[in-house]
This record gives sequence, structure tokens and C-alpha cells, in this order.
Amino acid sequence: MRSPKSPRQGGFFYAAIPRITQGMSTLLHTIQQAATLAALEEIRIGVLGLNGSLTQQLKELGKLPPEERKARGAALNVEKQAITEAIQARKTELEETALAHRLATEKVDVTLPAARYEQGKIHPLTAAMEEIAAALRTLGFVHAYGPEIETDDYNFTKLNLPPHHPARQDQDTFYLNPFNTDGKTYLLRTQTSNVQVRTLETHKPPFRVMGIGKVFRRDYDLTHTPQFHQVEGMMVEPGTTFAHMAGVLSEFLRLFFGQQLKTRLRPHYFPFTEPSAELDMQCPFCKTSTGSNGGCRVCKFSGWIELLGCGMVHRNVLAVGGLTPEQHPGFAFGAGVERLAMLKYGVPDLRLFYESHAAFLRQYGKAPVSAA
Ligand code: DAH
Repeated sequence: MRSPKSPRQGGFFYAAIPRITQGMSTLLHTIQQAATLAALEEIRIGVLGLNGSLTQQLKELGKLPPEERKARGAALNVEKQAITEAIQARKTELEETALAHRLATEKVDVTLPAARYEQGKIHPLTAAMEEIAAALRTLGFVHAYGPEIETDDYNFTKLNLPPHHPARQDQDTFYLNPFNTDGKTYLLRTQTSNVQVRTLETHKPPFRVMGIGKVFRRDYDLTHTPQFHQVEGMMVEPGTTFAHMAGVLSEFLRLFFGQQLKTRLRPHYFPFTEPSAELDMQCPFCKTSTGSNGGCRVCKFSGWIELLGCGMVHRNVLAVGGLTPEQHPGFAFGAGVERLAMLKYGVPDLRLFYESHAAFLRQYGKAPVSAA
């Protein structure tokens, strides 16, 4: 194959290329100087594209006389190859530079902390109910059931609170429209004590049961919400005494709070227990239990926190199950879940439980236990 004429000698030769007016060496130089892949592609299209200058000349070969055509065709093909090679070489160069640039700038710093992974938390009230149940389970109590929509009978009358009993006034609630035809009054239960009645009706002693769930009252202020939660416990076993009650409750609180705090029983009145008491616990925040050291705001400077109601199951309540206190003595207790949760986790305001602010849930929510 004959070598092409040097572009320097034959500048005229390229004058015929419409879009590239420089000579071959200038063209090759332009290719080598192409700053970007896009610019390079533009040159390629201008010369070798469908309507490129060189393509045009190749098309016009046919018009030449045969003796010229051969030499001209060979020369054009040599040019075409040189241009193609130059373009490919520059393309490789530009691609390598781009890759080197990316490698230099897109470094992955493996020492950076991982992206934050937000994990949901268990609501503190749910956590408290689980922990209450776990503590009572340890003491042999099993779950028992009572509905949230209850009849007047199970919520009051069978718990020794007959109609017009003055103690009903402390627990005003929400009544349902009497759309039913069974003549019963339906209401939202005011206490989990309905679980006691339902258990006595369906179970034979000995038993230890707990009922944990929602209760409702027509109350709304700083320390009361219309819906809250209670835990109820009842143990009916031969030989059960008031002393057993004191022991079980103290142990339950030790398990739930994870520390031994003093307890004391104060005489009180509940219609469904006799004798009845309220249990106070040593304040878990100041732990003075006397008030003499000053106490703190949580225990109102008394050193004690009022925690729950309890007592020996009343004769009239045991009678629901055909039992007597002489043969089947038992005790019962009831406590507010919110109260227990606030004291255990240090939640300062009851309303926080229901407002569901993300910041509150993040701080007081309990991380789910991992499968590990
Ligand atoms: N039901 C009572 C209340 O809501 C709490 C209570 C007190 C439950 C004494 C009991 C009990 O089982 O024996 O205030």
C-alpha cells in the first residue's frame, strides 16, 4: 500500500473536506486535544459520520475516472484508518483520565459511621404491662379475662356495690345506649375488678389470676385521663391470710422495680374486700421512707408513695362463686399501670403517655429484645 502524501505537502488535498479545513496533521492534533468524550464524538461525526467530510469524499470516488479512483480510494482509506485510530486512542485516554479522576475523588471512607438506623420502640405503657405480667407470672399468677364493655352487674353489683351505693359515685363512667334488648345496662368498665367476678364464676379454687388492661372513667385533668390501665390480681387458696397478701405484694413490687423498697399497709375501705388496705411504697426517687430527711417532690415530701388497693376478698364477692371466706379465703389487689410506669421509668407527666411525641417515645420507649 502506498503511503499517503504528507499533509504538510498536500494541504490542498484536504481543502476538499468541507467541514475540516485544516490539513491532516491539524485534524489529528485536534483529535488529540479533544477535551471531552462529547467533543471527540463531535469530531468523529464531522469526519466519519454519515455526512462526514471523509465519508463525502469516499462517496464521490465513483465520479472519478478509474485510473484516479484507485489511488485516491487507497489514500482516503489510509486517512480513514489513521483518523479512526487517533479517535480510538484519544477515547481510551479520556476514559482512563475520567476513571482515574473518579477513583481519586470517589473514595469510600470505611471508617465513617454507618447511616443511622431508626428502630421503633415499645410504648412504655405496653412495656410496663409486660413487666408487670412477668413479675406476677414469677409468683404463679396466670392471665384471666374481663371485657372492656361490661354490664353494670359485673362492674359494680357483683362486686358488692349495689345500685345507689355511694362508692359508685367515685367511678362515674361512660354508658352505652340501650340498643340491646336484654334489659342490661352496658358501660365501659371502671376497674379491672370485673375480672375477679368472671373468674369466680368460671373457675374453681385454688387459683392465682391477673387481669391487665384498659379501664375508663369520666375524668379529665392533670392527673386523670378518661382511659387508663389497671392491673388486678386475685389469689384464692386454702389458708391464704392477710400476711400472705403483704408478702406477695412486696415481692411483686421488688420484682417489678428491680429493687427492694419498703412497703406499708394502711387501713382503707373498698366494697369488695374486708378487711381492706392501701399499700404505700418507699419513694424510689428519694428513698427516705420517713419524710424526716426531707423527701422529694414526687412523694410530696412524705417519703411514701400511695400505690395500690388491696384486701381479703369480701364474703359477698366470694359468694358469686359459691365460696365462703372460711373455706376459701383469698386476697385481691388493684393498681394503676400508669402510676407504676411513671415511678419505674421516671416519667414526669401522665399525659405524655397519650400524646405520642416521637421524642418521648424515643427516650422512654423500650427497645425490642433482639432475637440473639
Ligand atoms: N378497683 C379498685 C380501684 O379501681 C382497686 C382495687 C382495690 C382492686 C382493692 C382490688 C382491691 O382488687 O382488692 O380503685
